[in-house]
Amino acid sequence: MKLWLFGLYGIVGSTAVVGERAIKKGLSDTTGLVSELPIFERLKDYAPLDFQFGGHDIREIDKNLFQIVEEHWELNQHFDYRILLKLKEDLEKIKAKKGTALNCGEGVLEELKPLSTLEDEGLTLKEIVERLEKDLLEFADNETVAINVASTEPTPEFDPEYHATLEGFERAIEEDRRDKVTASMLYAYVSLKNGIPFANFTPSVSSSIPALKELAERVGVPHAGNDGKTGETLVKTTLAPMFAYRNLKVLGWMGYNILGDLDGKVLAHEQNKRSKIVSKDKVVGKILGYYPYTITEINYFPSLQDNKTAFDFIHFQGFLGTKMKFYFIWDAIDAIVAAPLVLDIARFLLLAKKKGQKGVVKELAFFFKSPMDTDEYNTHRQFEILKKWFEALVSS
Ligand SMILES: NC(=O)c1ccc[n+]([C@@H]2O[C@H](COP(=O)([O-])OP(=O)(O)OC[C@H]3O[C@@H](n4cnc5c(N)ncnc54)[C@H](O)[C@@H]3O)[C@@H](O)[C@H]2O)c1
Repeated sequence: MKLWLFGLYGIVGSTAVVGERAIKKGLSDTTGLVSELPIFERLKDYAPLDFQFGGHDIREIDKNLFQIVEEHWELNQHFDYRILLKLKEDLEKIKAKKGTALNCGEGVLEELKPLSTLEDEGLTLKEIVERLEKDLLEFADNETVAINVASTEPTPEFDPEYHATLEGFERAIEEDRRDKVTASMLYAYVSLKNGIPFANFTPSVSSSIPALKELAERVGVPHAGNDGKTGETLVKTTLAPMFAYRNLKVLGWMGYNILGDLDGKVLAHEQNKRSKIVSKDKVVGKILGYYPYTITEINYFPSLQDNKTAFDFIHFQGFLGTKMKFYFIWDAIDAIVAAPLVLDIARFLLLAKKKGQKGVVKELAFFFKSPMDTDEYNTHRQFEILKKWFEALVSS
């Protein structure tokens, strides 16, 4: 199958490519891939773990993917360098195309410069869409999935005139209303319009606006999102049900996250950070059915690079009104927990397409912090839902 990554040169996107290639060449095993669990064995009949990659980015597009991964490696040493050397020839063949940074916020404009974007060429919105579409279609075949792993954008104000219906969204493009669309919306638009299943691994709005949901339904293509559930939120949504099952009352939950690297730099900007905080913050209340006091913070900590650390403190009340405390520290390499999910999501979405599913695939909520069109945030239940959905599809 083929996978197009918007944000290919980021650490998540590039690590997904390295991981898939390393497994294919027998340099690594499949640990970390949900789709390789024995219960999902039949997935290989529909979407084998065998990918070709392409994508868009907005920086360093004169370089190839090997050079980019080397740069990430210099800063992070996130896997055994011998793996990278053995993949050199393969990775050198992969090059990103120029994408768009429309309404991506100060974080992206300042921290990622110098940028190479389509809007710098003086193109209209319609021409930008045509270029994105051309790149994607030159690459795509019937078994292609596209995933957004680009930097987090600020959340745009919802404008019913342009975001509520497909007609309105396409009018925004025709009228060159650059103030109304963001890069992540355009990426979802070009993918879905062309029948390519799409996932949004970021908290950006992307395919979650009604206009694009309508497009997916009309074209008959599946999509999923938002924001990969990889670290602190995965632990939170796995642990919070324990308090609910034992009838313990959570009084407050503080999560303090620090990270470095490009993602951390972009998230250091308030506008870009907001959607991420909302995404991480609301899960506890959704699971408990009430909203305890919460503090959710994300701060840039340069020397950590991609080694994201989260400190969580939970204050809870038990029998006889007694107050108690629980603390945990999550200390992980962000790209290593995120990259396998990108491959998993792609494979499950291709299965969905082959089985004729269209619109939001709610059953993929297990992979996301802010799953679309469902209120199920409990990781345990989400996993059961995923399994049931899978079993039903492969036996249909
Ligand atoms: N565990 C995780 O790492 C994790 C979990 C959930 C979500 N995410 C999200 O995934 C995304 C990628 O994370 P990362 O750590 O790889 O970040 P990164 O900064 O390393 O990579 C982002 C890449 O996207 C590119 N980019 C930025 N704006 C773009 C645009 N408009 N079009 C095309 N490319 C663009 C950047 O140049 C960069 O190469 C972020 O939005 C992050 O919040 C990451």
